[in-house]
Amino acid sequence: MKVIGTEASQILASRIADALKTAVVDVRFSRFPDGELYVCSGTPDDEMVIVGSIVDSDSLVQLLLLVDACEGARNRLVIPYMGYARQDKRFKPGEPISARAIALAISRGSTTCTTVNIHDKKVLSYFSIPAIDVSLATDIGNHIRTMELDNPLILAPDDGAAAFALAVATAGRWDCDHLDKTRISGDEVRMAPKSLPAGGRQVVIVDDIISTGGTIATASAMLRKQGAHEVYAACVHGIFTNGAYARLKVAGIKEVICSDTIERGCSQYSAASRIMETLKQ
Ligand code: R5P
Repeated sequence: MKVIGTEASQILASRIADALKTAVVDVRFSRFPDGELYVCSGTPDDEMVIVGSIVDSDSLVQLLLLVDACEGARNRLVIPYMGYARQDKRFKPGEPISARAIALAISRGSTTCTTVNIHDKKVLSYFSIPAIDVSLATDIGNHIRTMELDNPLILAPDDGAAAFALAVATAGRWDCDHLDKTRISGDEVRMAPKSLPAGGRQVVIVDDIISTGGTIATASAMLRKQGAHEVYAACVHGIFTNGAYARLKVAGIKEVICSDTIERGCSQYSAASRIMETLKQ
């Protein structure tokens, strides 16, 4: 077994190879003069782990090309961050089910697929090959333990992320709650923990994705007003679109943490060992 990664997932692909105690295959990435993408892979093995987060259109095309370059091997796909997964249904007539379109396209040529904290597990059924999802909730929890916070309060930004936050909190037996939104007026919303006051506490807001950072920035500003001692933000997939990282800092977040499913300067823990476990099964 060898591991190969798209340009966006070079570091994680190498970490997965290290965890599997195997080699990573090098790839030359370039473009034709008209802008089309070109890849040329080193020698594949009989079994290949192909790692590629879909962070934009180019990374999707590179993933498709790498699978084709490894034709003839038993290809096992790893999509650490699956962009387009949030459009998992038609919200209005005329829209595509983007998650399904992408899942079907990338299933071809591989035997299994592993995703990480996919937006909704129903997307797994869109693949035409067996697909499983792994969660990094415990890994976030283990990272928070290294931060040596004083009895932190783990907070989900909404009810939908409460189960994820509970799984994070379980790693350190910390308190856990989720934020509740109350509409005060037409354009004013108050966010506060549903049951546990944040006053005087170190609070870690956890979510699967930070995209614009809007949700967590609003929550942080309100928690600081409610007397939270320090606010941290931890997620699996750090998209940080449109200046999100700076927005979070301005909102008073002491530290922003994400994994390496999308490789960032603040990627402080890795998805590699969790992915390796599924590949060994
Ligand atoms: C939503 O379903 C996700 O779990 C995140 O809460 C969301 O993507 C965060 O978005 P933003 O960072 O733009 O507020």
